[in-house]
Amino acid sequence: MAGSTQDIKYSFGLWTVGWNAGDPFGTPTRPELDPAESVRKLADLGAWGFTFHDNDVFPFGSGETERRAHIDAVKKAAADTGMVCEMVTTNTFTHPVFKDGAFTSNNREVRRYGLRKVLTNVELAAEMGASTFVMWGGREGTEYDNSKDLNAAHARYAEGIDTVAAYIKAKGYDLRIALEPKPNEPRGDIFLPTIGHAIALIDSLDNGDIVGLNPETGHEQMAGLNYTHGLALALHLGKLFHIDLNGQHGPRYDQDLVFGHGDLLSAFFTVDLLENGFPNGGPRYEGPRHFDYKPSRTEFLDGVWESAKANMETYSMLAAKAAAYRADAEVQAAFEHAGIFELGESTLAEGETPEAFLASQDTFDVTAAAERDYGLVKLHQLALKHLIG
Ligand code: GCO
Ligand code: MN
Ligand code: MN
Ligand code: MN
Repeated sequence: MAGSTQDIKYSFGLWTVGWNAGDPFGTPTRPELDPAESVRKLADLGAWGFTFHDNDVFPFGSGETERRAHIDAVKKAAADTGMVCEMVTTNTFTHPVFKDGAFTSNNREVRRYGLRKVLTNVELAAEMGASTFVMWGGREGTEYDNSKDLNAAHARYAEGIDTVAAYIKAKGYDLRIALEPKPNEPRGDIFLPTIGHAIALIDSLDNGDIVGLNPETGHEQMAGLNYTHGLALALHLGKLFHIDLNGQHGPRYDQDLVFGHGDLLSAFFTVDLLENGFPNGGPRYEGPRHFDYKPSRTEFLDGVWESAKANMETYSMLAAKAAAYRADAEVQAAFEHAGIFELGESTLAEGETPEAFLASQDTFDVTAAAERDYGLVKLHQLALKHLIG
């Protein structure tokens, strides 16, 4: 319900709080966390769910006994706390074997190895009861434009995604794939850099009906794009399957700040869309409010859990403010004045053909329309007052 923040389903990647803060310039500043303990701790903080990569839970290359012990520990933590494992994803970027990509590696044996790792992890996702299977192609890309046949690379990427989707359908799993666009980092240029690129490729797939998007706030902003607009397009097309919320200050390295700690006004409008929907109705996002952030390297363990709480607190505060903003009669009047409800009406009348339209008399007053005051600055100031007033 809009404005009631205690019902919001908050979810965290185990790799977020679990990041030990090693970066290209320095060694880790924190110890490794036990993923099962993180599930319990996130439950204590009020989260509803969690997500993970295969290798957040068990080490790369684990034998079956070791793998099983790690998975069972996380499952027990979930059962004990009621935490929902809503999404599972695959690490096809850390190990050096994936340094030239997984689905788009020039090496066919690497592609087959990557596909096997991903399909094996579909089985785990189904076992965990997850509803979303995220695919972030971190190493799918290049540093140099002549590193690959770029047509073949996109064909292999599409082939890989379609194969996973076909497998999910053949197995009858209640699982949808969500692609996560990112423009760069760790590759110089990552394939499917934005929401729009991903949607275009999905459209070419045989099994694209179960393939949608997992857009991340910072990733769109790294590309200089508007996250809320991206969410809107994905919603409009029925493709917003999942979200990664965090904070970012414009085009630079992937900051993965706490949600709202980057572009706060943009975060407000993201929450307004997610909680209140479009002003004229339309598709809504019903999935979890999932955070993919990193506790800053300056923080030790108290700071890790403080930062996790900060994501939920910020989102909840913005949800309350967005509810008040929408309920404000002055805002609704400003919507009306701006023509926002008028935009919900189709441009041609029902059944009106372009021919009939052209044949009708043009009585439009161009001068009056050109002199219209939309009141959009006033409307935006009303939003700002709700946000910081
Ligand atoms: C990143 C990405 C990842 C993915 C994760 C899920 O920039 O590192 O956001 O955190 O979300 O790998 O597949
Ligand atoms: Mn990121
Ligand atoms: Mn992400
Ligand atoms: Mn990230």
